[in-house]
Amino acid sequence: MKKLFLICFAAVITAMSVAQNIDKAIELKTTNSKMQWWKDAKFGMFIHWGIYSVPAGKWGSKTHYGEWIMHQAKIPRSDYSALAQQFNPTQFSAEDWVKLAKDAGQKYIVITSKHHDGFAMFGSKASPYNIVDATPFKRDILKELADACRKYDMKLGFYYSQAQDWYHLGGAVSGGVEWDQTHVGDMGKYIEQIAIPQVKEILANYGDVAVLWWDTPINMTKEMTQKLADLLRPYPNIITNNRLGADMGGDLETPEQVIPATGFPGRNWEVCMTMNGHWGYNAWDDRWKSTTDLLQKLIDIVSKGGNFLLNVGPDAYGVIPEVCQQNLREMGDWLKINGESIYSTTSSPFPFLSWGRATRKGQILYLHVFDWPKDGKLNVPLTNKISKAYLLADAKVPLKISSGKVNSAIQLPAFAPDKIASVVAIQFEGEPVVMPIPSHRKKVSISSSEDEIMNVNLTDGDPKTVWKAARGEKNATIELDLEKPTSIQCLSLIEPWHPWSEIRQKHELQYMEGSSWKTIFSGENDGTGLTRIFTPVTAQKFRLIVQNEKEAPGINELILFRAE
Ligand code: GLC
Repeated sequence: MKKLFLICFAAVITAMSVAQNIDKAIELKTTNSKMQWWKDAKFGMFIHWGIYSVPAGKWGSKTHYGEWIMHQAKIPRSDYSALAQQFNPTQFSAEDWVKLAKDAGQKYIVITSKHHDGFAMFGSKASPYNIVDATPFKRDILKELADACRKYDMKLGFYYSQAQDWYHLGGAVSGGVEWDQTHVGDMGKYIEQIAIPQVKEILANYGDVAVLWWDTPINMTKEMTQKLADLLRPYPNIITNNRLGADMGGDLETPEQVIPATGFPGRNWEVCMTMNGHWGYNAWDDRWKSTTDLLQKLIDIVSKGGNFLLNVGPDAYGVIPEVCQQNLREMGDWLKINGESIYSTTSSPFPFLSWGRATRKGQILYLHVFDWPKDGKLNVPLTNKISKAYLLADAKVPLKISSGKVNSAIQLPAFAPDKIASVVAIQFEGEPVVMPIPSHRKKVSISSSEDEIMNVNLTDGDPKTVWKAARGEKNATIELDLEKPTSIQCLSLIEPWHPWSEIRQKHELQYMEGSSWKTIFSGENDGTGLTRIFTPVTAQKFRLIVQNEKEAPGINELILFRAE
């Protein structure tokens, strides 16, 4: 009897766990299938547009503001909200914007439905502070964009600033400083009366929403976060980012303005970046990134397994700056020829390639050559058999392959077919066999640490974990022992950049020769990370000296890459 009971019990447990596994499998499948279009898409357009485009970055005598102008220039609510009456973007054409994104090869658009200034760019019943009720323009641009996106088969997502709202009473304010006492209120009420109803509106009124892009979860309690997350239950296909609040996470990691040196292996991530130095329109900022830079950034991101959400800030007439349009179209022209090496690919198997980047689709590797080799020989650090090689721009002509023990070489024509990035496709057999990153999980010894446990963070391959020097310190020396002499050609640093911190870190990389340290290079940068290629150096011990005048130096990841 007892035996029979045990058998039945075991059978029930097995059935339960099988059922659970099936459930899990279904859950995983749905999450994976929900992400598939996004994983294939790689390239999207971010749009920051609001009434801040009227002052165009200038307030008083200063000209460096963007969408944060109200906060940074401490503009009272009554003065700022008066900008709405001047907002009449008569040249706005949703179709033109969507067509531009199409021409650029972008597969989705994410637009600010409400930014931190609290102004809704859609007709909202929850607050009259919106484009339809408060401007002479009176048109619902989200509706027009949604229609155009449907027409041109473009996915559309909405950015919504759920926590910060400097207009509606009780909305959170970064830094907590209220410059206008009429704004003081209860955040719980703001969430109930503004954020929740408005998020319901954007989810319900514009057809399928591809992405909901939360931002700056300041003061978001668990309860508030949960309430907003619950609104998404009826929409299981919406992709959300990781900025909702209370450590809830989301489908996407969102590195901002920086490309993590190793990406976020195993996670979905999207780099959002401006084309000059501002998200919202700034008429004075002409530090435009070049097409070469932007395109190589796209390739870099995709080679690390991420997506690129590239921002445009239209002006108060509704026009996307000409420079952006031109750069985007040039990127699109490249993608028309080489898109096969970007869309629907997976990340590069190579930790580092001195001449460029790589992506993969099944048994094909796409090699993006930024620096065309002078001797015409492209070294590929792969030992697998390569059965075929050709240029994407000239697929009919086979390229000569010579296989060596640690490398293969592809014979290239004398001139690069593309001045920004030429793509060589190679067909290979088996799973790619490549050399590991020499610094990965190697022990470091540091002159000063906030907490020694943090030291492992430097080489653990996780760009989210950080090492910091002890408080009050301005310098630190990080020593790395690679255990055997290794030829090193590149240093990558991921730094704990955060907006408006304005940190600058000085660094100097050295290697040990005999018993003395020799400098490889030194420099200074703005805390957004660094990748520096240099003439290969063979050594076992390397050290990095970091200096930060403002706060204790910090680094998330320190990577030394092997020379090919
Ligand atoms: C930031 C800013 C913001 C911008 C956003 C884009 O957190 O607050 O102005 O919208 O990031 O990623």
